[in-house]
Amino acid sequence: MKKGFVFDLDGVITDTAKYHFIAWRDLAKEINIDVDLKFNEQLKGISRMDSLERILAHGGRSDDFTPEEKAALAEKKNTHYVELLQSLTPADLLPGVHDFLDGAQANQVPCAIASASKNAPFILEKLGVADRFAAIVDPASLHKGKPDPEIFVKAAELLGFQPEECVGFEDAQAGLDGIKACGMYAVGVLSGEPLHGADITVHQLTELDIPELLQK
Ligand code: BG6
Ligand code: MG
Repeated sequence: MKKGFVFDLDGVITDTAKYHFIAWRDLAKEINIDVDLKFNEQLKGISRMDSLERILAHGGRSDDFTPEEKAALAEKKNTHYVELLQSLTPADLLPGVHDFLDGAQANQVPCAIASASKNAPFILEKLGVADRFAAIVDPASLHKGKPDPEIFVKAAELLGFQPEECVGFEDAQAGLDGIKACGMYAVGVLSGEPLHGADITVHQLTELDIPELLQK
């Protein structure tokens, strides 16, 4: 019997991948690197600095910037990204999310957020669902990013459960690998490329029946 739900944010609760893409694409352009939508798939679930490193490697420029310059580039991307986030409203919840969170509450299943994003609390406020989550893992407190399972183990711990007692929801392969590595039941939410290794995949949370999911 499952007792808790652990959600990724970007691509599961709301579609912020398009804003991450715009902000990285524009930043990369300034340093003469082309980032397209296909390459952007690789950045899903990956931390801000790791994303920058992947972009620099993609453009053959890994050794061209000092740590201070890299920090400034990441900060510039984030400033643009946060500007784009200002227009978010509750209407930007992905289809079925609102009802699913209502269903979780009705079934007394506490929910946590396991997102690599340092902007998660702000995004949840803009979406009007911050009070639906009993816990939000602080990504700054982690030693390793996804696909390491640390963030999911921490989310389960904050809910007071073992990972095996939780269901994890992810749209990125890196996150899905982390969920499986700690023994959680994995729901893959398809938003782009196919996902491998999920226990079940859906296009929208509306496809799931909560009492049935809790029996897994
Ligand atoms: C993840 C996104 O949720 O958060 C990544 O999928 C992003 O694309 C990462 O890089 C970090 O986000 P932020 O908001 O801290 O830059
Ligand atoms: Mg995601």
